[in-house]
Amino acid sequence: MKKVLMVFGTRPEAIKMCPLVKEFEQRPGIQPVVCVTAQHRQMLDQALKSFDVTPDYDLNIMKQGQTLFDITQSTLSGVREVLDAAAPEVILVHGDTTSAFAGALAGFYAGIPVGHVEAGLRTYDRLSPYPEEFNRQAIDAMSAYLFAPTQRARANLIREGKSEKNVFVTGNTVIDAMQSTVNAAYSHPELAWAADSRLIFITAHRRESIGEDMRHMFKAIRRVLDENQTLKAVFPIHMNPEVRRLAAEVFSGCERIHIIEPLDAIACHNFEVRCFLCLTDSGGIQEECPSFGKPVLVMRNVTERPEGVETGALKLVGTNEEAIYQSFTRLVNDSAEYSRMAGAENPFGDGGACKRIADVIQFGHCDEFGKAQDYVG
Ligand code: UD1
Ligand code: UDP
Repeated sequence: MKKVLMVFGTRPEAIKMCPLVKEFEQRPGIQPVVCVTAQHRQMLDQALKSFDVTPDYDLNIMKQGQTLFDITQSTLSGVREVLDAAAPEVILVHGDTTSAFAGALAGFYAGIPVGHVEAGLRTYDRLSPYPEEFNRQAIDAMSAYLFAPTQRARANLIREGKSEKNVFVTGNTVIDAMQSTVNAAYSHPELAWAADSRLIFITAHRRESIGEDMRHMFKAIRRVLDENQTLKAVFPIHMNPEVRRLAAEVFSGCERIHIIEPLDAIACHNFEVRCFLCLTDSGGIQEECPSFGKPVLVMRNVTERPEGVETGALKLVGTNEEAIYQSFTRLVNDSAEYSRMAGAENPFGDGGACKRIADVIQFGHCDEFGKAQDYVG
């Protein structure tokens, strides 16, 4: 029986790791041990509840206004104690958060093999997203197992000199998560409110955008909402107080946007599948909406998910007010452009990522997702 410690701390990591916890639980050869840092407290708990996962260890590190120093220090020392107590054979972390980075670092220092779920994503701009691009590159440098979601992510890793035998193309586990969340009978008062309109789904939280860039993003959205009576927007707002302050400032008095508390993952996916389009700077939502045929305007200057831009499901619109306003207006008015984006292929997975990762942990190999020739460029 292989004991696998899974370390994660934020909402998106939980949404993408919980399906893997469930896959491990079904396998007699693997014993999952879940350690949450709780870098997010309420938003993590919401996601754990959606997938019915109870952590074995909870470091409970979140502080209001926490810095990268706080998160790194408390995760590193907390995971060290868990390693002593649980003595795992492998540590798995996910993605690019500071919990994932410090969790991987703890494993690396302790001499325990680290596996990186969602390896190989890159912008190659160390400051964007910040600090995620550094975190993901550093985690990949420390990892013995590199679970790349796409052939393109694999190609990044191989180009950087990672050994082919350590890289496995699995698809993204978020696509697995979505198999159990979307429900045709789902209802919600906010969906009822927007039922007479085209629903615009909005999220925003990136650290490097907080300040003027985020103000520009919100102003552009407000202008389009003010000009179009056929639109209503729902914005489940991140718990970061700075994001809340900016949204309150820009959207005050706008009746066609509802700013609501964070949705749980089941609700969020059911809003996405029912929306007209999404404006976001989220990583995970760039992967989810293309599966539902929903166009995504990505309010960032770079993306580590260029596959979606290449298939046409995502459009990078930056953080400039005028550029966002123009792209959003075009998508609202130009049905040919809308259909092109909505009809684009989802390149991020097929729902089999967790099985593939578990096969690698248990047997050392898996049948990979996608074909090497799928990646060109
Ligand atoms: C973190 C990750 C980011 C990820 C994002 C997902 C880092 C450095 N950042 O960014 O990669 O994309 O999560 O959402 O790892 N807060 C609460 N309750 C919560 C969650 C957050 O009150 O449940 C508030 C707290 O005041 C906290 C602040 O939000 O201090 C910021 O949280 P933090 O995890 O530091 O940064 P995020 O922007 O959420
Ligand atoms: N999400 C959620 N509730 C919300 C907003 C987002 O459950 O109110 C989910 C969303 O479906 C996706 C993940 O959270 O799976 C994305 O998280 P976030 O945007 O916070 O982080 P990122 O993906 O950018 O790291």
